[in-house]
Amino acid sequence: MPTLDQTEPTIFVIYGGTGDLTWRKLMPALYNLSLDGRLPEKFSILIVGRSAWSDAKLRLHLRKGVDQFSRRGAAKDETWRVFANHISYHQGDYKQSSAYTALAKRCAALEKDWGAPAHRIFYLATPPSLFGVIPKFLGKAGLARDRDHARLVIEKPLGYDLASAQELNTELAQHFDEKQIFRIDHYLGKETVQNILAFRFANPLFEPLWNRRYIDYLTITVAESVGVEDRGGYYDGAGALRDMIQSHLLQLFCLIAMEPVVSFEPDEVRNKKVDVLHATRPIDPNAVQASAVRGQYGPGAIRGKPVVGYREEPEIRPDSQTDTFAAVKLLVDNWRWQGVPFYLRTGKRMSRQVSEIAIQFRAAPHQPFAYDASSNWQPSRLVIAIQPDEGIVLTFQAKQPGPKMQLKPVDMRFNYRENFSEPSPDAYEALIWDVMKNDQTLSMRADQVEAAWKLVQPILDAWAKNAPDFPNYPAGSWGPDTTQRLLDPGHRWSEPIELVRAAPAPAVLSAAKNLTSKKPADTKSSAQPKKAKRPRTSA
Ligand code: BG6
Repeated sequence: MPTLDQTEPTIFVIYGGTGDLTWRKLMPALYNLSLDGRLPEKFSILIVGRSAWSDAKLRLHLRKGVDQFSRRGAAKDETWRVFANHISYHQGDYKQSSAYTALAKRCAALEKDWGAPAHRIFYLATPPSLFGVIPKFLGKAGLARDRDHARLVIEKPLGYDLASAQELNTELAQHFDEKQIFRIDHYLGKETVQNILAFRFANPLFEPLWNRRYIDYLTITVAESVGVEDRGGYYDGAGALRDMIQSHLLQLFCLIAMEPVVSFEPDEVRNKKVDVLHATRPIDPNAVQASAVRGQYGPGAIRGKPVVGYREEPEIRPDSQTDTFAAVKLLVDNWRWQGVPFYLRTGKRMSRQVSEIAIQFRAAPHQPFAYDASSNWQPSRLVIAIQPDEGIVLTFQAKQPGPKMQLKPVDMRFNYRENFSEPSPDAYEALIWDVMKNDQTLSMRADQVEAAWKLVQPILDAWAKNAPDFPNYPAGSWGPDTTQRLLDPGHRWSEPIELVRAAPAPAVLSAAKNLTSKKPADTKSSAQPKKAKRPRTSA
């Protein structure tokens, strides 16, 4: 795997650098990387924007973002001063060649000072309408030419549908090699998501069970209690299927369903993920109802507080037909997963925030227990909690203490916060770090993006043809009732788990403890910062 040579200079150029994404996410991530001593010695951050800003105004603005959103809390004056010296503003119109020529000169001047060619990372924190434009100008100005030093970073939405995603890929390919392009999905930077790889491929215990023989079905839930917030302008043209399923949920699906990797070489991991998408049964355009459900929230209440419906949110059309909830049923046609449904669902203004993957094992083939012994009986279930709880819970049957054989489901729990004292870095720290060390393992290749669009395209087409009867779920619920129709008989959407128990459970089983190391809990130092609102990209 690539490593970062910290002696090699790097210029980190952010387009849209005065916007929300840079403010809330990119700059706090870069600042934390610098505190961890992970940035090269010769390092420059050039923030490109259209308005006239001074370096001083820019630094002040960015400091406020870092103070508010850094996982380490407010920056100390001295450390901020040292870091801020690396940041400067570069004014330029994104659609004028002269702005790119000026940028090229500026990069060349830095390299001259440093006496060595620098890695040049171009991060597009702009609206997606500029994803095809800026790379073209970068290419024309010769800024993409050095294949070993120039890199481009873009983030979803990567296209609006299959055709536009293909168009974008074709445009990018004219100026950058695939090896220079980092298409990032912030879900892949989350520790708990990366832990899926560790869990699956570092523990031979689970691999023999990871197939159709032992697994009945899986549910992947990414529920948000927030509404559309201040992103109505973007969201109303996207919807839950595009915004979440096509990207984040299909990434989780690939990580769970992929075959074991031979190594963590970027293309090895990416090939295995694309294989899953290729093996997934295409949705029948004439029977989309059997595979997908959409919803839109109406007024309701979240934790007892009344909230408005989607159509009353700012920037939303009063007759909007945009889905704020989407659920799909996927089947993977390969030896491992034949016949095992994967149910994916996501929504805004759901009962509570929870992202988790539940793996429901098959029932025991034969039960020798008396009927009354097994009245509470449930097949084993493994839940990977991604957020806000972070951990893994395995539910299985135990004998309840007493004279009779009475079964009761109990849990084995692994909780990140109890087992690791250090706080998890933010997803953007991991992703930016990967870009800097030129490691594409977690970034998406063009073919993966297209394969994901291909999978959801029949649903988009079918939904575009029929007007839905919206709103069809109240804010604060678990989505429309029709979601049940996706489930095969006997299957159910998994109830979200509570990783942190309110009170210690009775000592039913000594085994019902953490699965891993017994480090003392350090909940204080592992406290997570408050969840930041989802940033907006800016022009
Ligand atoms: C973004 C979506 O990609 O992910 C948002 O555009 C969504 O609509 C967000 O809120 C969820 O991310 P997280 O990390 O808060 O789960």
